[in-house]
Amino acid sequence: MKNIENMNVDGKCVLVRCDFNVPLNKDGSVSNDIRIKIAAPTIKHLINKGAKVIVMSHLGNPSKKRRMNEKKPLLERISSKLPEGSIYCVKDHLSSAVKREVDFVDDCIGKKVKDRISQMKKGDVLLLENVRLYKEEKENSEEFARKLASLADFYVNEAFSVCHRKHASVAKISRFIPSAAGMLLQKEVTMADRVKKNAKRPIVMIIGGSKVKSKISAIKYFIEHTDHVLLGGKLANAVLVVRGISVGLPLPEDEVIDAVKEVDFTSPKAHLPVDVIASPDRTGTAYIRETGPGNTRGDEDIFDIGKETIKMYGEIIKEAGTIVWIGPLGLFEESSFERGTMEIADRIIRNHGALSIVGGGDTISALSKFELLDKMDHVSYGGGALLAYLSNSPMPGLEGL
Ligand code: 3PG
Repeated sequence: MKNIENMNVDGKCVLVRCDFNVPLNKDGSVSNDIRIKIAAPTIKHLINKGAKVIVMSHLGNPSKKRRMNEKKPLLERISSKLPEGSIYCVKDHLSSAVKREVDFVDDCIGKKVKDRISQMKKGDVLLLENVRLYKEEKENSEEFARKLASLADFYVNEAFSVCHRKHASVAKISRFIPSAAGMLLQKEVTMADRVKKNAKRPIVMIIGGSKVKSKISAIKYFIEHTDHVLLGGKLANAVLVVRGISVGLPLPEDEVIDAVKEVDFTSPKAHLPVDVIASPDRTGTAYIRETGPGNTRGDEDIFDIGKETIKMYGEIIKEAGTIVWIGPLGLFEESSFERGTMEIADRIIRNHGALSIVGGGDTISALSKFELLDKMDHVSYGGGALLAYLSNSPMPGLEGL
């Protein structure tokens, strides 16, 4: 993989693809800017080498009606005249992360952007508008990728977490411009390769959280190729429902049902919760109760794994040589349902001999809440991307590098 150390960027324009898909507060402000902070070393490195740094990212998944190239005027504009879905909210966080005033332009291709770039001096940083406001981004449009590439002399990919996506600003752009991997992306790949190529057995995969559909095929792979797969979170709930173990919960969509049916959950390597924390509400205010996954009542949902499951998973984690954890095991944001996620984190930390890798935005938020983030060997900012990489799925964003 080409890296940025080998690029002579003095006086050149460098387009850096970051992942600033940060969580937002209700008022649209950034609630956690860790994803912005972690991109700073690469941006600062480029600044120090005399580059003009153009930063682009996606933020969320703006709906079709809000995309920039719609003929109709953009709906729901806010007072600053920025479209809903704008990445402007990231600008000040980026300025403080790179310790200089970052400029912003409310588009990511075209004349206006080029004019702004032409005024940049060495060391300047310009943030482009949310790249997913153009539907061509997710369509992996060649024309769009060419337009992005035409903005700069070099392209740097610092967004490992989107490298599993076939999107123009990660997958196609590197065909049209000399490209390299950012420093964090290199580290992500190096650590993932330690699991892929050189893992100490037993390998234990812990997979929870939501985004069920995209995780199922990886689970199938891990049941075949690793030693234990421990499931929790919404993902486990969906599997329990489809397998008829937990009734009363809503059935997932057809695609998820079909995908779950493809996986051999009777394998001794696959582990589902044997007890759960159920409640009729998401805060656990009415009541919470510990029960078997098959004994939930019609008005209840499952919000965490139970004591027996923690114990069972803990025993497996204790013996692990390598642990990869993606996705919280319950609704950790609520104190009533944080225990499973917290206890599993504790079991991982107590296994000093194992290599521990945790990944994904929600897992990182959970570990930040418990102040345990620095206790893991590696924190990956890609959840879906790490799963895809470890399960040998295509990584279009890495191919061009
Ligand atoms: C993430 O938050 O996991 C990455 O930014 C990827 O986002 P996506 O799942 O919307 O592609």
